[in-house]
Amino acid sequence: MRVLMVAAEAVPFAKTGGLADVTGVLPRFLTEQGHDVRVVMPRYYGVSRDDLVALPQPLGVPMGRLGTQWAGVLEGRLPRTDVPVYFIDHERYFGRASLYTDPVDGHGYADNGERFVFLSRAAIELTRALDWRPDVFHVNDWHTAAIPVLLNTVYGDEAVGSAATLLTIHNMDYQGTFAPGLMEVLGVGWEHFTPSGLEFNGQVNLLKGGLYHATLINAVSHGYAHEIQTPAFGHGLDGVLRDRAADLSGVLNGIDYREWNPAADPYIAAQYGAGEMAGKFACKRALQATMGLPQRDVPIVGMVSRLVHQKGIDVVAAALPRLLELDLQLVVLGTGEAWAHDYLPKVAARHPERFACRIGYDNALAHRIEAGADLFLMPSRFEPCGLNQLYSLVYGTPPIVHAVGGLDDTVENYDADADTGTGFKTWTLDAPALFNTVAWAVRTWHDTPEAFARIVQRGMAQRFSWEDAAHDYGLLYQRAVLQRTGRDLS
Ligand code: ADP
Ligand code: GLC
Repeated sequence: MRVLMVAAEAVPFAKTGGLADVTGVLPRFLTEQGHDVRVVMPRYYGVSRDDLVALPQPLGVPMGRLGTQWAGVLEGRLPRTDVPVYFIDHERYFGRASLYTDPVDGHGYADNGERFVFLSRAAIELTRALDWRPDVFHVNDWHTAAIPVLLNTVYGDEAVGSAATLLTIHNMDYQGTFAPGLMEVLGVGWEHFTPSGLEFNGQVNLLKGGLYHATLINAVSHGYAHEIQTPAFGHGLDGVLRDRAADLSGVLNGIDYREWNPAADPYIAAQYGAGEMAGKFACKRALQATMGLPQRDVPIVGMVSRLVHQKGIDVVAAALPRLLELDLQLVVLGTGEAWAHDYLPKVAARHPERFACRIGYDNALAHRIEAGADLFLMPSRFEPCGLNQLYSLVYGTPPIVHAVGGLDDTVENYDADADTGTGFKTWTLDAPALFNTVAWAVRTWHDTPEAFARIVQRGMAQRFSWEDAAHDYGLLYQRAVLQRTGRDLS
């Protein structure tokens, strides 16, 4: 099948979170299963033009009342694959260092609606310019959710308009909500500005439009696919998802073992594996040295996260005073909300023996924390899939999680009597519950080291394979094409 993967970010070119891990890696596995996959994303300022080849013609992109905007298209490859990546090169929209937010005020760029409508429309126009007709547009999150809407409306009478679409939900919290004027840029007509179309509380909601117009929808775990149909997790769109329940499923993300494998990780102090754990202790000592923590035999609880409400960082902050009374060391790496940038380092400065905090984005340090920590903290309020807990399982660093979404699906709660489980779960998320769960994990580490080692081994034996996920996506593509066109490609 011909599949066009369209996304706002993809590793290794641009990444703010797990979305990029998925869109940059899944195409490789789809290709291995015989699909013809290509990727479209913006050329942000940070993507070097050096190894890219410009297509001979610029791309004209109709932008409603803004008229036709012109973009360059630069072609590259996903590393170590033949998967073409087309970068949409438009200085005014994408020639910026930060992907979505203005570094000056921390808010989303005022023209984000325009920018990503442009990306969406450019992707469709590109398939026409290349004369390459995808069977499926695989779109991701609100940034590219306009594609199903456009195919069903302005492209409805054209060949490309019959392509099937799969909308993957990586996060319901970001919906792409903009002033109604965006309708005139989208160019689909005001008759689509309705509650069963793009309108939501008087605004244009691109994700909502995509959810109504996509052939099929999936979320990045089974748990999240169910949760988002409820008011607690639907961020206002649970009704839309219930309407579309018959076309909504879950596909769990995998791990890119080329990047995340303690037996071959170039970033960490010493390699190790399930049968040979000595290296992990070396990683712990190295992490303590790097973070300026005393090299004591206490469990290190690590955290690598966007420091935002979704990830429960406010709950961690509320629990901090009591957490730091436990016999542990806490290591936090992340960027996010301004208060956290200010508050967490201040607390760390008051507890240099117990708490080290790095505000920033640092991939090498993320690897070193996964490897050097004894426990990994991920108390997300909601978690569509979550990749860090998967990495921590594989790195022998049992996760402490809030039992939601992908965290609930992938971590099995420790049961001392049955001697089962891969991590420590809480079903309530507040400071006392978080404290109790961390205290339980820390106690298990101190008091029953053999039982703890078996938790570690059970986690390391898990596989989260992209092969399986790619297989499931292949089936969804087939189903989408069948539903859209009646063509049976199975
Ligand atoms: P989300 O996409 O919601 O942020 P995920 O767990 O799916 O959560 O993915 C987060 C990804 O981003 C992981 O690959 C993680 O290692 C990485 N990451 C997040 N924050 C940082 C940081 N400050 N430094 C390095 N890597 C980070
Ligand atoms: C989003 C979610 C995260 C998921 C990632 C990749 O960023 O917050 O849970 O793992 O997308 O699908």
